[in-house]
Amino acid sequence: MFDNIAKEWDSEKRIERAKLIANEMLENVDIDSKSTGLEFGCGTGLISFNLIDKLDKITLIDTSKGMIDVLKEKIERADVENMIPLQGDVDYLIKKGEKYDFIYTSMVLHHIDDAKGTIGKLIQLLNKEGLLCVVDLNTESGSFHGDEGDFHGHNGFDQREIQSIFTRYGLEEVASHTFYKGIKETKEKNVDYSLFIARGRK
Ligand SMILES: C[S@@+](CC[C@H](N)C(=O)[O-])C[C@H]1O[C@@H](n2cnc3c(N)ncnc32)[C@H](O)[C@@H]1O
Repeated sequence: MFDNIAKEWDSEKRIERAKLIANEMLENVDIDSKSTGLEFGCGTGLISFNLIDKLDKITLIDTSKGMIDVLKEKIERADVENMIPLQGDVDYLIKKGEKYDFIYTSMVLHHIDDAKGTIGKLIQLLNKEGLLCVVDLNTESGSFHGDEGDFHGHNGFDQREIQSIFTRYGLEEVASHTFYKGIKETKEKNVDYSLFIARGRK
C-alpha cells in the first residue's frame, strides 16, 4: 500500500507535522552528536531529515521499496552523508546485529499486528543506556483509517499499554504524554486525532 503513495507522501502537512514530532523527540531524550540513530518505519525520512545534525549516523529502515526509493533520491539530492537507507523489517536488523543509541519510530506501530513483539525487538537493538522513542496515535474509533478498507492494524494505542510493554522489556525512566492534536481529512468527514510520545531508557 505504501509503495503506491510514496511519491506523494511529502505533503506540506506531513512535513510540518514531522518537524513538530522531531522537536518533541529531541525534548524528551538526551542524545549528542556522537550518538547513532535508527528510524524504524522511516517512510521518506521526513522525521530524520530534521535530525541530521543531531546524530552521528542515522540508519533508516522501511519495508516499502517505494518509500525507500524516494528516500534515496532525497538523500542524494541533499548530498547527505550520514543517512543509511535500508529496505527491510525488524528481523532484518536483528540478523544484521548492529546496535543503536537512539531508536525512534513515528506512526508505524499501529500498522504492525505484533506491535508488542516489535517493541521487544527494537529494545534488543538498543545499546546499553540507549533510548527508545515511540510516537503514535492515541486510541481512536477507527475513523483515522476509514478510507483504507484493507487496514488491519491497531486503532491507536492506550499509552498505559505502551508504558507497560516498555517496562516489561526492561526499560527504565518510562514516560509518555500527548503532544499533538490534528485533523485528518477523509472522504467521509474530518477526523480529530491526537498523538502521544512514549520514551524509555535501556
Ligand atoms: C504512516 S507511515 C509513516 C512514515 C514515517 N514514519 C512518517 O512519519 O512520515 C508508516 C510506515 O511504516 C512502514 N512499515 C509498516 N510496517 C513496517 C514494518 N513491519 N517494518 C518496517 N516498516 C514498516 C510503512 O512502509 C510506512 O512507510
